[in-house]
Amino acid sequence: MNKKTFYITTPIYYPSGNPHLGHSYCTVAADVMARYKRLAGYDVMFLTGTDEHGQKIELNAQKEDMQPKEYVDKLVSEFRRLWDIMDISNDRYIRTTDDYHVRAVQKIFKKLYDKGEIYKGKYEGWYCTPCESFWTETQLVDGKCPDCGREVKLTREEAYFFKLAKYADRILKLYEENPEFLEPESRRHEMANFIKNGLNDLCVSRTSFSWGIPVEFDKKHVVYVWLDALTNYITALGYGSDDDSDFKKYWPADVHFVGKEIVRFHAIIWPAILMALDLPLPRKIFGHGWLLFGDGTKMSKSKGNVVDPKILCDRYGVDAIKYFLMREIPFGADSVFTNEALIKRINFDLANDLGNLLSRTTSMIEKYFNGVLPEIIEKNNEDNDLIDTAVSLKEKYIVYMEKFQFSNALAKVWKLISKANKYIDETAPWALSRDKNRLSRLACVLYNLCEVLRIVSILITPFMPNTSPIIAEQIGATDEVLSWELTNKWGSLSRTAKIKKGDPLFPRIDIQKELEELNKFVN
Ligand code: MSP
Repeated sequence: MNKKTFYITTPIYYPSGNPHLGHSYCTVAADVMARYKRLAGYDVMFLTGTDEHGQKIELNAQKEDMQPKEYVDKLVSEFRRLWDIMDISNDRYIRTTDDYHVRAVQKIFKKLYDKGEIYKGKYEGWYCTPCESFWTETQLVDGKCPDCGREVKLTREEAYFFKLAKYADRILKLYEENPEFLEPESRRHEMANFIKNGLNDLCVSRTSFSWGIPVEFDKKHVVYVWLDALTNYITALGYGSDDDSDFKKYWPADVHFVGKEIVRFHAIIWPAILMALDLPLPRKIFGHGWLLFGDGTKMSKSKGNVVDPKILCDRYGVDAIKYFLMREIPFGADSVFTNEALIKRINFDLANDLGNLLSRTTSMIEKYFNGVLPEIIEKNNEDNDLIDTAVSLKEKYIVYMEKFQFSNALAKVWKLISKANKYIDETAPWALSRDKNRLSRLACVLYNLCEVLRIVSILITPFMPNTSPIIAEQIGATDEVLSWELTNKWGSLSRTAKIKKGDPLFPRIDIQKELEELNKFVN
C-alpha cells in the first residue's frame, strides 16, 4: 500500500544577511513536524530554500561590489551550513535562481497572461525596498511602510498586473467554508478584514531593476518577487518542468509554515494565483509569531540584535536549542528570547528532569543488578498511575502535534518525566535494595523506569533526534522496540536488556558565569 504523503514548507528566506535565530525558529518547527510525520509512517516532503531575487539583494550586492549571483551564493552557503549544523532534515532545498525554477516561473507568467489573468498597465505606488512591498497612500502609516516603519519611495512605471481583486469573494468564501485553511484563528480575522477593506490588482513585474526572472515575452520586465517566491512551493515539485511526478504525488501542500507578517501573501495572493492556474489550494497556512529580542523588537538583521544560532548550538548542542525554541514559545505567539530563559530550561528540564531520570535509573541498575535486570513480572497497584500516564501519553501527544502545539506536546512528555522522578522518590529503590525479599520489587520498579524512558525517547525524537538514540542505547532499547506502534505498548522493552550508564545527557550550566560569557556575543 502507498504511504500517505505529507508536504510541509518553510518560507524561502532572503539571503540578504547571515541567518539568525529568528530564521531558525520556523525551520526548526517545520523540521519537528516533518520528523514527527516520518516517525508516524508518512511519506514526507519537507521543503525549504532561499528567495534570491529583487531590488534589495541587487542593492546589497552593489554595496559589496559583487554580482548579485555571487553575493547570494555566499549567503546561501551560510543558510545551508546552518541547516546542516542544526540537523534540519529537509528533503529538498530550492533556490529561486535555480534554472528549473526560473523556467517554470516564466511558463507560469505566460500561462496567466494568456488566460487574461495578467495584463499590462501603469504602476504608481509607494514602494518599501526592504520589504519588497508596494503600498497605497492610505495604507501608509505616518507616510512610512506599515510593516517595518521605514521610508517608502513613490514609484511610477509600466508594469504587469495580476487580477487579484476579482478573487476577493472567492477567498473570503474559502475562509468561511474552510476555517482550517488559515490558522491561528486571529490571523484569519485579520486577513478577512484586510480583504473587506478592498483588494487592488497586484503588480507582478518591474522595469526599474534587473535582478529577477525576465518576463520571456517582454524582456525589459522582471517578475516581481512575490510571484517568483510563492510559486517555489510548486516548482520545487516539478510543476512547469518535464517531470512533474512529485507535484502529482505531494501537491497540495499539507501546510505552509510562515511568519505572521507574510501571512497576507500566503493567505490572499497565493490562493488567488493557484485559483487562476486552476490548481488545488494548500490545505493550511499557519502563521507563527516572532522571536523577540531583549527590548521586545523582532529579531532581525536590520535592528542589529541578532543572536547567532551557530554559537548557541556550539555551546549547548543543537538538541537543547531546538527543545528550547519549541518548548518555551507557543507556536503562533510572539515571545521574548533571553539567554537566561534558555539556560534555565537547559538546567531544569534537560539536565535535572530528563538527565537525572536517565542517570538515576541506569546507575541503580548497574549498582544493584550489574546492568541486567532479572526477568520478573509482578503487578503492583502502586505502579498504575505511572503506567497509565505513560501508555496514554501518545494519544495526547498526537492531538497537540496535529495542532502544531509543540510546547504542549513537550509539556505532556515532561509531565511523565516528572512523574517518573517522583516515582523513584516514592518507591525508594535504595531501601528496597537493602531487603533481600524485595529484590523482585526493586527489579520491577527499575524496569518501569526504563519503559518510561523508552517511551520518552520515541516521543522526543522529532525534537531531539540526537538525544533519543543516546537514551535508547543506555537502556538497551533496540530499533524494534522504538517503533511508533510500540509507543503505547507497555512492556515492550526486553526485561533482560543490557543497561549501561553514560555521561550526563546535558551538563548543568553555571548561570551567572555563562550569562557573562554570552554577553560577549550579543551585538
Ligand atoms: N522571502 C520572503 C518569504 C517568501 S515565502 C514564499 C521573506 N523572507 S525573510 O527572510 O524576510 O523571512 C522569512 C521568514 O523568517 C518569515 O516567515 C519571517 O517571519 C521569519 N522570521 C524572520 N525573523 C523572525 C523572528 N525574529 N522570529 C520568527 N520568525 C522570523 O519574508
